[in-house]
Amino acid sequence: MSEPPPPPGRVQQGPYVVRCGPGRYAYCRCQRSARFPLCDGTHRGTEFQPIKVDLDRELTVAWCCCGKSRNLPYCDGSHAGI
Ligand code: FES
Repeated sequence: MSEPPPPPGRVQQGPYVVRCGPGRYAYCRCQRSARFPLCDGTHRGTEFQPIKVDLDRELTVAWCCCGKSRNLPYCDGSHAGI
């Protein structure tokens, strides 16, 4: 089995698509995380809070990396209109 792709670490036009095992994930809202779109705690001291996601089974997740989705933390295709 191959390693999952690393998170992009920056805002980009297009999602971060990755297979995720069951567990808790935190989606970065401050867009400063070195692991963006996943939270690394950099938001501490700002007004931003991550979006918590609990997965009860393994799924392929398309995490929004443009910040424009109307269904955060998931990509809804809105990046195509940027
Ligand atoms: S990356 Fe697709 S809507 Fe943001």
